[in-house]
Amino acid sequence: MTIERKWWKEEVIYQIYPRSFNDSNGDGIGDIQGIIEKLDYIKNLGVDIIWLSPIYASPNDDNGYDISDYYAIHPEFGTMEEFDLLLKEIHAHGLRLIMDVVFNHSSDEHEWFEKSRASKDNPYRDYYFWKPGENGGPPNNWRSFFGGSAWEYDSTTDEYFLHLFTKKQPDLNWENPKVREEIYKVVRYWLDKGIDGFRMDVIPLISKRLEFADTPLPAFNDVVEQVYSNGPRVHEFINEMYERVLKEYDIMTVGEGPGISTKTGLDYVGHDRGELNMIFHLDHMFLGHGPRGKFDPVHYDWKDIKKIFTDWYDAMGDSGWISIFLDNHDFPRLVSRFGNDEEYRIESAKLLAMLVLTLRGTACIYQGSELGMSNVKFENIEDYRDVETHNYYKEFTESGTSHAEFLKQVHAHGRDNVRTPIQWNKEKHAGFTSGEPWIRVNPNYTEINAEDVLADEDSIYYFYRDLLSFRKREKTLIYGDWKIIPMASDDLFVYERFDANYKILVILNHSDNTHALDLNVDNYSLCFTNVSSSDKNTLLPWEARLLKSMND
Ligand code: NOJ
Repeated sequence: MTIERKWWKEEVIYQIYPRSFNDSNGDGIGDIQGIIEKLDYIKNLGVDIIWLSPIYASPNDDNGYDISDYYAIHPEFGTMEEFDLLLKEIHAHGLRLIMDVVFNHSSDEHEWFEKSRASKDNPYRDYYFWKPGENGGPPNNWRSFFGGSAWEYDSTTDEYFLHLFTKKQPDLNWENPKVREEIYKVVRYWLDKGIDGFRMDVIPLISKRLEFADTPLPAFNDVVEQVYSNGPRVHEFINEMYERVLKEYDIMTVGEGPGISTKTGLDYVGHDRGELNMIFHLDHMFLGHGPRGKFDPVHYDWKDIKKIFTDWYDAMGDSGWISIFLDNHDFPRLVSRFGNDEEYRIESAKLLAMLVLTLRGTACIYQGSELGMSNVKFENIEDYRDVETHNYYKEFTESGTSHAEFLKQVHAHGRDNVRTPIQWNKEKHAGFTSGEPWIRVNPNYTEINAEDVLADEDSIYYFYRDLLSFRKREKTLIYGDWKIIPMASDDLFVYERFDANYKILVILNHSDNTHALDLNVDNYSLCFTNVSSSDKNTLLPWEARLLKSMND
């Protein structure tokens, strides 16, 4: 079978978290005009598709992932006219735009929920999940992704409603055909504006197991996979959305996939399924999450990461597609998590760029990775903004974890690591805003910022740019097969992408150690390296090389 060619397999995504990208009006919050100002910067990097995290009306309990009006732009970000201009400008730059849509839940300030909660017998009651309590407590033992029960008591009608995320994010009831109609209307509204696709938030969660039985599973990741995700009607619902709306448009869809495993992946993205084009599986992102989640860490290493890449490559074969990414707005900075953000920050950031851009799948780059931005270490919990961090701070410190111990986990795993403002220059607040930023800037902005990086031709930014332009020409990197070349040391990751014409060999030393390299590469020519000088048979710490040869 030959693999199907599609623009969304060839192009590269750049994720913008608008709140933290660029503030044009001095209110401390990134905005639409701010993005428009930076389109040349994005275009010059060489990416193709902008994924915009939510910019809809929202009370911002979860920074926009709690939508109160799917048809309105949050005034903090701008107006609908400004959005239309942004879309026009994005297209004028030869770029595309995909919007982030959140249909598993809405905000509790959405009018559907306000009506739903008002009485037991109103037409909106069934837009959400309402249940009486059990033995004076919630209907079952389900826990929210952000800590505490997944049920909230509402005294108006003496019942509980379901919220898998915060209590301001009630879950929508997709069983109700009217809810689905409303959602398809929203989808069509944005597609008719001319956007190029969607990132669908937590899409495997939309079909609930309606028995709402207690779960005996102790580990949260297992609960997500076996209880919250992959419910009985999930494929029927996604397929219906495809048949009713999506298939009429030349767009791309990527589903965020908590709980989707290599066993279930193709059910969502198989080319013949009529569902989604690709998913962001989260297997490598959830690595290290212990029974109580990310702030309860367990050990993992590169062997686990490599196994996940291999398993997903095998699972997809030529029949389905995934996105390749190493961070986004929910996980730590890739260089801090997978690289060495101190001694080898530049080398390891480049190595990780090479990894993301050479595996099979649509590469996705999170804003600031191209600058080598790293995690932040605030000492005061008040400096953090993320609801997840605050909820778990309360839960962990109340159950005995010390402030210092919890902060250590936040420094490593908290979502605000990736939400500090983009560091544009050395000026006050890193040039992000002329006002007070909504979250403090990472103090390292004087060493890490776009102005410096753009002035240095050896910088991480230009490494990304050159690799991106190489990738555009080399279809072997898109459609080619993949095989791992076994190495004696676990510190090395060596693999080849190949098709009938070419072989592209990638050699990565993802460690602080120097290694001898015993590999015959006589027929290859070196296209990229991230170190200035090394001898052929030695790999320096975090050295990355890309070589190419004819396949004969
Ligand atoms: C996944 C999103 O990426 C995350 O930021 C959000 O908090 C949850 N879904 C809830 O919408």
